[in-house]
Amino acid sequence: MSDHKKTVVVGVTGGIAAYKALDVVSRLKKKGFEINVVMTRSATEFVTPLSFQTISQNLVNVDMFQEPKAWEIQHISLAKKADLVAVVPATANLIGKISNGIADDLLTTTIMATKAPVIFAPAMNTNMYKNPIVQDNVNKLMKFGYEFIKPASGRLACGDSGEGKLEDTGFIAQVIESMLYDIKDLRGKRVLVTAGPTMEDIDPVRYITNRSSGKMGYSIAEEARDRGAEVTLVSGPTNLSIPFGVKFVRVRTNEEMLNAVLEKFESQDIVVKAAAVSDYKPKVYSQKKIKKNEDEFLLPLTKDVDILRKLGKLKKSQVLVGFAAESNDLIENAEKKLKNKNLDYIIANDITGTDTGFASNNNKVTIIFKNGDKINLDKMNKREVARKLFNIVTSGLSSRV
Ligand SMILES: Cc1cc2nc3c(=O)[nH]c(=O)nc-3n(C[C@H](O)[C@H](O)[C@H](O)COP(=O)(O)O)c2cc1C
Repeated sequence: MSDHKKTVVVGVTGGIAAYKALDVVSRLKKKGFEINVVMTRSATEFVTPLSFQTISQNLVNVDMFQEPKAWEIQHISLAKKADLVAVVPATANLIGKISNGIADDLLTTTIMATKAPVIFAPAMNTNMYKNPIVQDNVNKLMKFGYEFIKPASGRLACGDSGEGKLEDTGFIAQVIESMLYDIKDLRGKRVLVTAGPTMEDIDPVRYITNRSSGKMGYSIAEEARDRGAEVTLVSGPTNLSIPFGVKFVRVRTNEEMLNAVLEKFESQDIVVKAAAVSDYKPKVYSQKKIKKNEDEFLLPLTKDVDILRKLGKLKKSQVLVGFAAESNDLIENAEKKLKNKNLDYIIANDITGTDTGFASNNNKVTIIFKNGDKINLDKMNKREVARKLFNIVTSGLSSRV
C-alpha cells in the first residue's frame, strides 16, 4: 500500500447478512485502511453501531440530521474523503433507491455525492434477487459504472436455497483491496502466467510430478490483476484457491499446459512461466496398473516438450519471463537458460534454502535481464517478489515506446 492511507466508506444496510459486514471491516482494518461505517436506520435493527465503531475505531454515522461532531456536513465530507464506497450487504431497497436517484438518508446521499468508485455486495432472498425489477436496477447501475460483487448461491437465512447469499467476506475484502491497489500500470495489458507442477501418468494410478506449490505463480497473477491487467492463469494441480478476477485454466500434463498457453500466447503482452513443467515423462503409458512382480523396476523416460523454449522461438512483441529453479551454479545456469530460450528476464531461484523456494511463502531470487544486468533481492514474500518483478518489467515496457 502507498503512504497515503486509503479511506473506505463501508455502507451497511438492513439485511440479515449485516453482521457479516463486521468481518469485512475487520479484514480491511487489518490491511491498514481507514474505515468509516455508515449504517442505514434498518441496519441498526440487525447490528449495533457500537460493534462497527469498535472494529473500525471510528464513529459510526447513521443520521443525516444528527448534531455535527465537527463543523462539517457529514454526507459531503464522507463522500469527498472516500477512496471507495462499499455497500455490504446491499438490500434490494438500497439498490432500488440509488438506481432511481433517491437520496433520503446519509448512506444514499453519500453514494450520490461521491466521485469515488462504488461497489455493492447484494444479499437477499432468491426470489427478491431474481425479481426483474431488482435485476433491472442492478443492470442500470452497472451501465453507470457502479461495480457489483454478485451474490453466491447456497442456503439462505430464510430457509430457501439459491442465489442471493452474501459472497464470502474474505473474497469481498480482497476485491475491495484490489480496487484500491496503488499501482495500475498494467491497465489494458494482457498477462499470462503459468503456475504449479505438471503430472505425467505412468499407469492408471501412478504419476510423476514435482514439489511446486504454485504459490509464486499465483502471487504473480494476483499482482498483475491488481495492477489492472487482464490475467490468464494456467495452473497445474495445486491446493491453492482460484484467485478472483482472473481467467483460470486448469491443466494437468505438460501437453495440456502447452496447448493452453499456445492458444493464448499471440494476444499476450507479458508471459511469465512460473510453472514447474516436467522435463521427462514415461516413454510408454501402461493402460493396466503395473504389478510389483520384480525386485527392481526401471521406468524408461523420454524428454517432454520445453514449453518455454518453444515460446522463445514464437515470441514477437511479448515480454517473456522464465524461472530457473536450481540447486547449484544458480546464476550460471540461469544465464544459459535466458540465452538459449530467448527470454527477456529470468528469475533465478535457489531451491536449497530452507525457508524459501518450493511451498514456502518466501523467496530469495536474482532477476537477470537480457543485457546481463542483475538485481539481487533479499528474502521476501512471494507477493513482494511479484511486485518487484512487475516494477522492472513495466519500466522496461515504457522505455520501449
Ligand atoms: C428479518 C429481516 C431480514 C431482512 N433481510 C433482508 C435481506 O437480506 N435483504 C434485503 O434486501 N432486505 C431484507 N429485509 C428487508 C429490509 O430490511 C427492508 O427492505 C428495509 O427497508 C431496508 O432498508 P435499508 O435498505 O435502508 O437498509 C429484511 C427484513 C427483515 C425484517
